[in-house]
Amino acid sequence: MQLSLTQLPSRTLLLLLLSNLLLWENVASVPMCAARNGRCFVSLEDMFYFAGTFSHEVSVEISTLFSLFYAVLLKSVNTLLIAWEHPLEHLVSTISTLRNIPAAIISKARRVKEKNTSLHQGFNSIISLVLRGDEKEEKYPTWSGLASLQSKNEDARIWAFYNMIRCLDNDFKKIDINLNALK
Ligand SMILES: *[C@@H]1O[C@H](CO)[C@@H](O)[C@H](O)[C@H]1NC(C)=O
Repeated sequence: MQLSLTQLPSRTLLLLLLSNLLLWENVASVPMCAARNGRCFVSLEDMFYFAGTFSHEVSVEISTLFSLFYAVLLKSVNTLLIAWEHPLEHLVSTISTLRNIPAAIISKARRVKEKNTSLHQGFNSIISLVLRGDEKEEKYPTWSGLASLQSKNEDARIWAFYNMIRCLDNDFKKIDINLNALK
């Protein structure tokens, strides 16, 4: 049977707390307990003091971890946006060269182009405030798909566009999730 914390008598809880405190890495900073009749006593006040100190330290570390992670998300958005700059430009400008392409697709591509500009502007103003210069210049994957978008073989071109739009969809979903999480 497992005992939940609430079922443990408070004395046992205190002993558990004490043994954990002594096991903590920072044992050196824990003052010696008072020896009485050959036994070791640490006051409840001291226990609270140590627990409080450690909880504060852990909380500070977690806040730092969180703010560092914030930059990881921002940098990942930055990398994706930069990586898509040229491919998206080519995709939008060459999609109309596909034979029998529905007008709805062309007008959607135009909308993407317009909104892309606003997205870049908005995001650039965020990173100019938040990221340092060297953090903005992330390495990003180079794109080598232009030839397949311009292939003479119409079927190959259709596949190239299809695959590219699928990746675009994935990556911009990531951008959306990351930016809205950061918001
Ligand atoms: C998206 O915006 C960026 C930054 O303004 C620009 O470099 C890129 O060419 C734009 N893409 C399209 C498809 O307009």
